Amino acid sequence: MRDASASDALVFFGATGDLAYKKIFPALQAMIRRGTLDVPIIGVAKSNWTVDQFRARARDSVEKHGGVDEAAFAKLAQLLRYVDGDYGDLATFKRLRSELGSAEHPAHYLAIPPILFAPVVEQLVNANCAQGGRVIVEKPFGRDLASARKLNAILLAVFDEAHIFRIDHYLGKQAVDNLLFFRFVNAFLEPVWNRSFVESVQITMAESFGVQGRGKFYDETGALRDVVQNHLFQVLCNLAMEPPVRSDGETLRDEKVKVLRSIATLVPADVVRGRFDGYLDEPGVAADSTTETYAAVRLALDSWRWQGVPFYIRAGKSLPQTRTEVLVRLRRPPTMFPGCRTPPNHLRFRIGPDVEIALGATVLDAQAAMTGRAVELLAVHRPGAEDQDAYERVLGDAMTGNETLFARQDYVEEAWRIVDPVVAAGTPLFPYQPGTWGPPEAARLTPPGGWDDPSVTDDSTY
Ligand code: BG6
Repeated sequence: MRDASASDALVFFGATGDLAYKKIFPALQAMIRRGTLDVPIIGVAKSNWTVDQFRARARDSVEKHGGVDEAAFAKLAQLLRYVDGDYGDLATFKRLRSELGSAEHPAHYLAIPPILFAPVVEQLVNANCAQGGRVIVEKPFGRDLASARKLNAILLAVFDEAHIFRIDHYLGKQAVDNLLFFRFVNAFLEPVWNRSFVESVQITMAESFGVQGRGKFYDETGALRDVVQNHLFQVLCNLAMEPPVRSDGETLRDEKVKVLRSIATLVPADVVRGRFDGYLDEPGVAADSTTETYAAVRLALDSWRWQGVPFYIRAGKSLPQTRTEVLVRLRRPPTMFPGCRTPPNHLRFRIGPDVEIALGATVLDAQAAMTGRAVELLAVHRPGAEDQDAYERVLGDAMTGNETLFARQDYVEEAWRIVDPVVAAGTPLFPYQPGTWGPPEAARLTPPGGWDDPSVTDDSTY
């Protein structure tokens, strides 16, 4: 639903931090270039910086992440303000109030650890900055169901649900939206998108890098909390949801919650956790850490459409490649031609870094009588400058009050309900060599037909 009161200022806490540097400044420059942002932007942090240092940081950020557009950056620099101070100190927020000037509907983006949400929200109220505003927070929302509920209570004491925007930047990716779109606008998929034709669904989020200097954050989080419980569940929901009866944000979010409700709570046998060798040497990682950098998970959806179809998710750092991809395998048709045993058909959706949709099929091999050959019919989109980055999209939508791309609290709670017992159980942690596809023990959770191995490319030159 679109809120009548678009934000007339953007405040971001944690303005000198990593997320601001990597994602927020580039998104702000892009929004200005596109003409969708023209309000004061106020960074808040405790770094003893001046506003000039803050602007220099912004410039450095866009230089390193996509490049400087001189006209847009000049405008960004002019809109930027900076408030330095402690998050527990009312004086910081009084200065913020004065920087806000006549703004009545500020958007407060809490790009800070959740432990700081309570003091910040309290001081926003005390300094009269919260009234008429909205709050934007980052995933993961809490560490488990109980802490997610606590965090939510803190936010709901001041902002109503319609003014709370929980960012999961995967929802800002066009390719994630396209899973939904592609399913429901193409007639050929509708009859096969169910347990009668689909054999299994697998989602892989592979990253060839490690924790990239985020050791402290990552060590408190781990793969299940960092990407499975949020990003990859969102992907799963778009693949599995029923056709929404309307296309508004609330109806779509209702359908996603229904998918999660159908998923059985995980037990330890459904999960394999791994850790790449060398992780303990990362700065910020505890010597006695038991955090996983890899997780493979098998999920059962107990719904009319999906009962009996296993869904698999695997995610990991220091794997051989960086790519996020979905593979939907269809059941094999009866064999008509003796000796011709071909792979089942599949649909493959690559969500990043490139965007691809592939239809895996079998054709007659020209070289051999009645023998089949696997091919893929492929559509490729290479994201370019005209494409909106996920952060640009979610920040823009939060500021205009469009809730569709944000996680609702009931969704967040269902997602924690599914993973809670296994994140609490401290299941075994198996080592793996960096640059491999995770621990050998993950073979226990191999989908029928195996994990999609992108190093084995189909021969599509038919
Ligand atoms: C973040 C995680 O939310 O998503 C990171 O905290 C991960 O660990 C990142 O690397 C991946 O995002 P993207 O858009 O590069 O796939």
